[in-house]
Amino acid sequence: MKPNHFTIVLFSWLVAASLCGQTPPTNTNMDAFVSGLLGRMTLEEKIGQLNLLSTGFDVTGPVASKNVEANVRNGSIAGVFNLYTPARVRKLQELAMGHSRLRIPLLFGYDVIHGHKTIFPIPLALACTWNPELIEKSARVAANEASADGVNWTFSPMVDIARDPRWGRIAEGAGEDPYLGGLIAQAMVRGYQGDDLTRSNTLLACVKHFALYGAVEAGRDYNTADMSRLTMYQYYLWPYQAAVDAGVGSVMASFNEVEGVPATGNRWLLTGLLRKQWGFKGFVVSDYTAINEMTLHGMGSVEHDAELALKAGLDMDMVSEAYVKYLKKLAAEKAAPEAIIETACRRVLEAKYKLGLFADPFRGCGEERAEREILTPENRKFARDLAARSFVLLKNADQTLPLKRSGVIALIGPLAESRRDLLGSWSAAGDWKSATSILDAVKQAAGAEVSILRARGANLVDDPVLLETLNSSGADIVPDQRSRQEMIKEAVATAQKADVVVATLGESFAMSGEAASRSELGLPKGQEELLKAVVKTGKPVVLVLMNGRPLTLPWEEAHCSAILETWFGGIEGGHAVADVLFGEYNPSGRLTTSFPRNTGQIPLYYNHKTTGRPYLGDPHVKYVSRYLDVANSPLFPFGFGLSYTSFSYSKVRLSRRALAGDQTLVATVDVTNTGRRAGEETVQLYITQPVASVTRSVEDLRGFQKIFLQPGEERAVSFRITAEDLKFYNSELRYDWEPGDFVIRIGPDSSQLYSATLHWTKSQ
Ligand code: NOJ
Repeated sequence: MKPNHFTIVLFSWLVAASLCGQTPPTNTNMDAFVSGLLGRMTLEEKIGQLNLLSTGFDVTGPVASKNVEANVRNGSIAGVFNLYTPARVRKLQELAMGHSRLRIPLLFGYDVIHGHKTIFPIPLALACTWNPELIEKSARVAANEASADGVNWTFSPMVDIARDPRWGRIAEGAGEDPYLGGLIAQAMVRGYQGDDLTRSNTLLACVKHFALYGAVEAGRDYNTADMSRLTMYQYYLWPYQAAVDAGVGSVMASFNEVEGVPATGNRWLLTGLLRKQWGFKGFVVSDYTAINEMTLHGMGSVEHDAELALKAGLDMDMVSEAYVKYLKKLAAEKAAPEAIIETACRRVLEAKYKLGLFADPFRGCGEERAEREILTPENRKFARDLAARSFVLLKNADQTLPLKRSGVIALIGPLAESRRDLLGSWSAAGDWKSATSILDAVKQAAGAEVSILRARGANLVDDPVLLETLNSSGADIVPDQRSRQEMIKEAVATAQKADVVVATLGESFAMSGEAASRSELGLPKGQEELLKAVVKTGKPVVLVLMNGRPLTLPWEEAHCSAILETWFGGIEGGHAVADVLFGEYNPSGRLTTSFPRNTGQIPLYYNHKTTGRPYLGDPHVKYVSRYLDVANSPLFPFGFGLSYTSFSYSKVRLSRRALAGDQTLVATVDVTNTGRRAGEETVQLYITQPVASVTRSVEDLRGFQKIFLQPGEERAVSFRITAEDLKFYNSELRYDWEPGDFVIRIGPDSSQLYSATLHWTKSQ
């Protein structure tokens, strides 16, 4: 067999490695291997391992890296991101393996956020499945595809708790709850990394953005975040810690400041909390040009910031090139001790070792594998199922849904034909041309007895400046040149000919995600006008929403017959919408973020505190915590979602009313499918502790179970609760539980719960 270029390079590396005294590492102890390598590295080469550059397809920040190849040759680069495909990866890796002095393999990072080429629903939608097992599988599929395409490191999971839907990046995370967020974070880490990172179908995961990025003030991206340590520990830090506990290999520092110091240079955060308290052993990377940006935060020169960041525990510099510029000089001046540089370098080399890169720098990537394993029919089938599971049925008056397979359906709205939007933001290497639009999918699924009429009715957005901004982020919106009135007139005439109207409205994918904050969360004006005109025809209107965040929909909730939240459903999102509309799949998604009634209610989240003057529902009482012009409650609460069937709950039964120490409580409800279809219910468990040494949330999610019931079927659902489930952080930031009364609440969502009380003491 003729050796190919890859075999020659690998062979020459093996020879070179053994000449350098390195043996192929698979059976070698990591410490000895890395120490040996470090012993041969110059200071410049060590600093090179702290330098990450962006090259290739997508540049996701203000700066694009230059001279990447030259940097690879002279060993001043740890890896690159935004570059994939076996050919491109191999070319650059061959350069590192064949031409750099020590032949240290490169990392290839990429934002594989919700799938690689098989694009799954956006993360916020995935969370609405409340199914960590399937989310883990989606990360597994993503890892398999991305690694076949040469990627070995993903900047995921993003686990920032978000209570403010104005923030566009709420789309990238799991929502507002720490417990569910933690479970999902762990599932994703397991999915990406598997149990053996050296296997060539895994990816090194990177939990981000550490920390508190979801709490940026006023929901404006990159803005300041500030909160008490107690709130951090109680709510915001939980999912990051969960990812660390699951063995995540890397952590990305966030853009925002934490307690007045940018996370990038925050020693308390990156060393005190992450390493000392949580025992994190991997490496920390900055976000895009974040060291440079410390200057604009008001932290002094970039040189000074490089010193701060290194000393804080930031191992790798993403794109700023501040470390390669300044660390040598800082080391000579003793401002940045070489020992810290060496520790950071060791962490990066260890990650490469764990990935098996020293044994196989190419990790089995090649065209053939990519061809065989990427975007397979099986992966697409899974994506379709997952998308259907992520949709949340918000309203269904008079059983408008599922649609009948006869009669006339008017499919109205600008999103029905869009394939690009289905993929959502951060859709990695996904190709929207492989998606099927809602219009085409509905046509395919409808059957011979249905006729579909179509009118666009409105443009996605009308504001020309917004349109330009969205299109510069790749939204590809080609506006219809007709006037609003003309388009609406056509849509109304179309609706009048139909039995039911399906209005596909919402956001362009580019209206959520990074740098996509909004101050108003209603449907864009033109779409709202269209909906009002169509509702006026008196035809039943099914609103099919596509959006990356909770929207404010009070009018829509009052006037549409049905509302189906479909987020951005991914590459199979169009088919999944058709599956749900025609009842092939009975919706089971549940919200993981509260939907406000208006933006003035924000921040709005279910696990809030009670206050000293709670509003108890009597509008005539003045001095209480409420608004004069809107209710306190959300329009759609956390945990909410309907089904084509209905479920009833019995009262909560407790195994005992008095417990002590490490005893176990069993709380049970009987759930019955009272409708006419089989369906899945998510039974949710919340716990309240009314009195404690620090104020507690009105309730905290502490468990859930998904059950599938046939019509008429009843199932007893039991939760086993121990003192571990009662723990919280006290004023000393100690995680423990306190004896007292507890309320166990079980039900279909955070606002409809059946409760039972008990007393739990420390010892018998
Ligand atoms: C900036 C984003 O904040 C981060 O989430 C992403 O991973 C990096 N850019 C790399 O693209």
